[in-house]
Amino acid sequence: MNTEMGNQKSLLITIDGPAGAGKTTVSRMLASHLDFLYVDTGALYRGVAFEVFSREIDPENDRELEKIVPDLNLQFEYSNKGTRLVLKGDDITDRIRTPEITMLASKVSASPIIRNALLDVQKQMGARKSAVFEGRDMGTVVFPDADVKFFLTADVKARAMRRFTEYGDGGKQCFDEVLEDMVKRDADDSSRAIAPLRPADDAIIIDSSGLSPDSVVEKMVEHINSARPKTRILGQDQGRRKF
Ligand code: DC
Repeated sequence: MNTEMGNQKSLLITIDGPAGAGKTTVSRMLASHLDFLYVDTGALYRGVAFEVFSREIDPENDRELEKIVPDLNLQFEYSNKGTRLVLKGDDITDRIRTPEITMLASKVSASPIIRNALLDVQKQMGARKSAVFEGRDMGTVVFPDADVKFFLTADVKARAMRRFTEYGDGGKQCFDEVLEDMVKRDADDSSRAIAPLRPADDAIIIDSSGLSPDSVVEKMVEHINSARPKTRILGQDQGRRKF
């Protein structure tokens, strides 16, 4: 391994931003380009919401939430089917993207009990670096010392349209309902007392409205290169991947 690659291997990159800004797509692409681990922290909150839903717990009742923390046992497993979210041995990956779980995840994410429980899990995952962490408070709370921080945003209608398309034919909501949920979720995520959604002071803000995922990743790679002038991004010089 050459030293350039060695330097680059130690980076921890965070990507925060509101729902539907395209974080998941570009985080995955960036992680794949760098050959880094990709961690979707929203899935962890969705996993907690799934447990809350299954046990019919009131997401605003701290005492009830406290009870589920000790045996939460939520982990990512990496297989040829991609990254899977496993809750107490049960693969719940395909069950956490419904509108109900989406709204419930926003509710549980406002609880300090849940945020604290997930803080340690996330820090442990980031200890080895070489990772792209996607979430809402990665650069502000979980990894304030991250090497490069991005905040990806976009116009609310463009974001709602992305989410609407993602739900596909199986979606139970019309576009206006998805938009309404998105506006409410933005307000909840940004106004909560603990870890509100906001860019870190040292984050690079990218507006993805009207930009393709390729263009966003290209911008990110440029920023990573300029933040680490001696570090060349793997793949660029070797022409293995193109953006
Ligand atoms: O990114 P997502 O839509 O899958 O996230 C689900 C919910 O979890 C969303 O309401 C915001 C919340 N969340 C959070 O509060 N902090 C994170 N680091 C990631 C997600």
